[in-house]
Amino acid sequence: MATLEENLKVWNDQYDWPSAGDEWSATFGGTDALWSFVLYPRIRRFLPCSGILEIAPGFGRWTRFLKDQCQSMIGVDISARCIEYCKARFALDSHIRFHVNDGTSLAAVPDNAIDFVFSFDSLVHAEKEVVEAYLVQIARKLTPDGVGFIHHSNIGAYPVRLKAVEYYNRLPSAMRRRIVTKENLSTLLSINLQAGRARSMTAVLFRDYCARAGLKCISQEVINWTKGKCLIDSVSLFVRPGSRWDRAPVLFDNRDFVAGSKLVSRLSNLYCS
Ligand SMILES: C[S@@+](CC[C@H](N)C(=O)[O-])C[C@H]1O[C@@H](n2cnc3c(N)ncnc32)[C@H](O)[C@@H]1O
Repeated sequence: MATLEENLKVWNDQYDWPSAGDEWSATFGGTDALWSFVLYPRIRRFLPCSGILEIAPGFGRWTRFLKDQCQSMIGVDISARCIEYCKARFALDSHIRFHVNDGTSLAAVPDNAIDFVFSFDSLVHAEKEVVEAYLVQIARKLTPDGVGFIHHSNIGAYPVRLKAVEYYNRLPSAMRRRIVTKENLSTLLSINLQAGRARSMTAVLFRDYCARAGLKCISQEVINWTKGKCLIDSVSLFVRPGSRWDRAPVLFDNRDFVAGSKLVSRLSNLYCS
């Protein structure tokens, strides 16, 4: 599901959004738990702030928390259906504006107005060209001390496994069935192939794109997702060089992210209900 067309088709037309995105928080014990124990601790230093940009809010799973952390907020999403839902859901919040975009454009966002850019559980489906296009524009949108927190794919860091999958997919289906099912192939290679990660994207590329855009990636937490040992995602934090948040970059391979989600889920029984 990595091209813009595929993303649009899936999220706008095919997916039925049974719980407005909260269904994806289940392994963490719910959206409150995922926000309180996983996301907010990672971004709390930058909040509250004046202006927030959320890229790809979907049905507003994170918007509902972010909106209370700023004076003004903009959400852009490729899906008109998502934007319509957000407009209705947050109709009483006059400080939020939502825009449908073409999957790469931030033209609706004023320059030099954003203190915090946020995207979680969305751009993991975006190929490298899309991520690069967003970063080039974000560099203009950020205020001097602005910060970005973007969750994106790192599955491209596993080219040998992805090649094996490519070869497997080229086999006639009868032969494939005899060798191994798709589900078992994922287990065999210990890589989560079901999560629809964009295969061209890596944490290294993200750092390069930041540098080319005049930004600096100050940390990357490379994580596994739902299952498999491979660290198929990255949560990358970036700033303007020389800003108050600038510091030596820190890279962290967090192989315990999935294990951590199980702990968060157990804690949610105590603190989130
Ligand atoms: C899995 S949903 C997640 C939504 C939300 N972040 C959440 O966690 O609930 C993915 C969202 O990303 C949007 N999306 C995918 N590619 C995009 C792109 N290139 N630009 C803007 N939105 C995009 C989809 O329309 C959809 O709303």
